[in-house]
Amino acid sequence: MLSQAQKIKIRQFTEEKIKHNDSMHRMPHIEETVKWALRFANLEKADRDVCWASAMLHDICKWEEEHGKNHGITGAETAAEYLTKLGIDKEFVEKVKDAIYYHDKPFEGGSKERQILWDADKMNAVTLEAFRTRVVPYFMASLSKEEALMKAKEEYYFFYERFHTSAGKKEAEKHKPFVEKYIAMLESQ
Ligand SMILES: [Fe+2]
Ligand SMILES: [Fe+2]
Repeated sequence: MLSQAQKIKIRQFTEEKIKHNDSMHRMPHIEETVKWALRFANLEKADRDVCWASAMLHDICKWEEEHGKNHGITGAETAAEYLTKLGIDKEFVEKVKDAIYYHDKPFEGGSKERQILWDADKMNAVTLEAFRTRVVPYFMASLSKEEALMKAKEEYYFFYERFHTSAGKKEAEKHKPFVEKYIAMLESQ
């Protein structure tokens, strides 16, 4: 259980940490992940606060990838250290740490909260809104139109096929016709 004061501090910590992230992994991505994490937590009857904290903190070390580090590992450690410093109990900290550690790795099973963070994060690749406004422009910025579209499409199906919870799968499925229509439209241009 987190207090309002703890939540404010965690958000501020995140805002500070993600300043160096690439454009696809700033606050809009975090807010979106938190929104889906809470929705899935309700549907899957998971711990809402663990899901909230995991989603809020999951990409705090994304920028370290540029230095050859795995942001799931460094993010999990940095988040756990910070939560411990805030006086949050060990069991809660371990759950958040586990979810963040695995959010950029393939896995089977695991806690509901771990599965929810993965799904909530990947909703950012499978809704039309995210695909159109963040994924495609991100690849377009550095690649030719054809290559960017291929990458975006590849990433879309990679994530689409790997959702864990039934709430996440159902939600991703809802957006599929719209994303596919949009891809077809771009391909025909
Ligand atoms: Fe990430
Ligand atoms: Fe993320």
